[in-house]
Amino acid sequence: MKILVIGRGGREHAIAWKAAQSQLVEKVFVAPGNDGMKQQFETVNIDEKDNEKIVQWSKENAIDLVIIGPEAALQNGLSDDLKKNNIKVFGPSQTATQIESSKEFAKELMKKYHIPTADFATFSDYEEAKKYLEEHGAPIVIKYDGLAAGKGVVVAMTMEEADQALRDMLLDTKFGKGKVVIEEFLQGPEFSLLTLVNGKQVVPLVIAQDHKRAFDGDKGPNTGGMGAYSPVPIISQSVIDESVEKIMKPVAAAMVAEGKSFCGVLYGGLMLTQNGPKVIEFNARFGDPETEVVLPKIKSDLVQHILDVLDNKATQVEFYDETFLGVVLSSNGYPGSYAKGVAINGLENVKQLVFHMGTAYKDGTWVTAGGRVLFVVGKGKDIYEARKDAYDGVSKIKSEGLFFRSDIGFQSCK
Ligand code: AMP
Ligand code: GLY
Repeated sequence: MKILVIGRGGREHAIAWKAAQSQLVEKVFVAPGNDGMKQQFETVNIDEKDNEKIVQWSKENAIDLVIIGPEAALQNGLSDDLKKNNIKVFGPSQTATQIESSKEFAKELMKKYHIPTADFATFSDYEEAKKYLEEHGAPIVIKYDGLAAGKGVVVAMTMEEADQALRDMLLDTKFGKGKVVIEEFLQGPEFSLLTLVNGKQVVPLVIAQDHKRAFDGDKGPNTGGMGAYSPVPIISQSVIDESVEKIMKPVAAAMVAEGKSFCGVLYGGLMLTQNGPKVIEFNARFGDPETEVVLPKIKSDLVQHILDVLDNKATQVEFYDETFLGVVLSSNGYPGSYAKGVAINGLENVKQLVFHMGTAYKDGTWVTAGGRVLFVVGKGKDIYEARKDAYDGVSKIKSEGLFFRSDIGFQSCK
């Protein structure tokens, strides 16, 4: 089979890497990919949002399966366009992607189908939102309704912060024409549950934990994710089973009932509260960087599982026992503005698995080319060993332009 992976980050590098291990696969292409992937795969210079070119190129090159990474491509209807042209694709339709792109849609769906999540209300009028805020008080959570790359969520500990968030999102035009979801503040450990879904069929993968804040001790701004590990020792198998039965299966069935049947990776961003697991958010795709630790945990053939799910056949995913833990090296300044083109040395000394998130290769040197730049994966019999292995790898990388968190997985090691 010939596989085309759509996207250009660490997640897509991991998907391509795992797909290439399949007995079924003869060649893996990535569009547009990045320089780091070029060492292993053929990259195709087509933007992930250029549906017409992707369809045409896939036809010309007899691609047997397209796996879509980024939400922007899904929201742009790439899956629909590929399907219309009889090209096999793993990734939800534009309509089904709403479960990620519209927080209001996701929350209304959960309410209608009794899927456990924080209580909420939606507003587009500032005065009404303010009134609700005064009735409920802080702490409270305010979310901009739309894809906001993780930046549209304010967990407000005070009324002042909450009011400021409402002003930013409803009165300013900083975010575009605004609507907000105001949510009850929940507490507990978070975990990410990625599932392969087609209609009502739900195949869970192992869970992972992401670290969203930029700096050690969960300080600093929210990012796309600064590190991850899998499995997560503090979350028991019974909580995972409950999450699959009470959250992931019902939501997949709800999407079918609403005429928005989902096919692709449905990602539950979940929190274990005192009243059991609850949904913080859904994503319509592989998580990044969770994918970069979850796929290495899979022992069996990912492509076979995807084909089985596309045919609605039962499929048995097998996992390695080891723990995988990965650290993101990001450009100084990320998630704000940052420089590009800063030299990265020592990559050749890293013996651990490395996924390239945003690198370029210029005149014989690796340089930074994005906010999140590299992902180094350690493994070991437990989280202690995996952490040590990952940071051994990180220590070999020398660059003036990069920073990383030194406490990935640390909470679980205590
Ligand atoms: P989201 O983009 O919806 O995943 O939110 C980003 C982060 O904000 C989450 O990972 C949580 O840490 C936090 N968060 C979101 N919703 C809530 C909530 N209802 N209660 C407490 N924290 C939340
Ligand atoms: N790591 C969080 C996400 O992919 O949205």
